[in-house]
Amino acid sequence: MDFFELAKRRHSVRKYKDIAVEPEKIDMILEAGRIAPTAANRQPIRIYAVQNKEGLVIVSKAANPFGAPLVFVICGDKNAAWKRSYDGKIATDIDASIVTDHMMLEATELGLGSVWICKFDPAVLKKGFGMPEALEPVNILAVGYSDDVVKSPDRHDTERKAADELVTFI
Ligand SMILES: Cc1cc2nc3c(=O)[nH]c(=O)nc-3n(C[C@H](O)[C@H](O)[C@H](O)COP(=O)(O)O)c2cc1C
Repeated sequence: MDFFELAKRRHSVRKYKDIAVEPEKIDMILEAGRIAPTAANRQPIRIYAVQNKEGLVIVSKAANPFGAPLVFVICGDKNAAWKRSYDGKIATDIDASIVTDHMMLEATELGLGSVWICKFDPAVLKKGFGMPEALEPVNILAVGYSDDVVKSPDRHDTERKAADELVTFI
C-alpha cells in the first residue's frame, strides 16, 4: 500500500470485535514506534502495551478505550526529552506523537483499526501503572479488529480543510 492509500484508508475506529491482536502484529506496531524519529534522537519514550484484564480496567477508569482489546499508552519522560534553549519548550509531546502516529499507521497497514485518544485522566494512568514521576502519559492508542463502519478514503475531500486554508506560501 502506498503512503497516500494508507493515510486515506485510516480512520478512527470506536467499535471493536472481541478478537485478540496477534503477538506478531503487536511486535510490528511496537517496531514502527521504536524507529520513529525524536528530537536530538533522545528517545524519551516509554510505551505501556496493555492487553490483560487488570490493565484494561485501569485504562477504562482513565478514558473510554471503546472496548479495544489492545491499548498502548505512549508516555514521554520530560527529564530525558530534548529542550529548546530559546524558550525552554520540551519536545515530549512532539516525540510521543510521532511515535504514536507511526504506530497508528502501521496498525492500519496490518488491517487493524485504531483510535488516538487524548481525553484521559493522566493521574489515573500514572497511579494505576506505577509510572515514575518524570513520565507523562501523552497519548493513548486503542487498537483492534474494527467492528465499526468503514469510512471512505475520499472523505478528506470534505472533512479536511482545503490546502489554501492550510498553507502559506512565502
Ligand atoms: C491528538 C488527538 C487526540 C484525539 N483524542 C481523541 C479522544 O480523546 N477521543 C476520541 O474519540 N477521538 C480522539 N481523537 C480522534 C479524532 O477525533 C479523529 O482523528 C478526527 O476526528 C479525524 O477523524 P479520523 O481519525 O476518522 O480521520 C484524537 C485525535 C488526535 C490526533
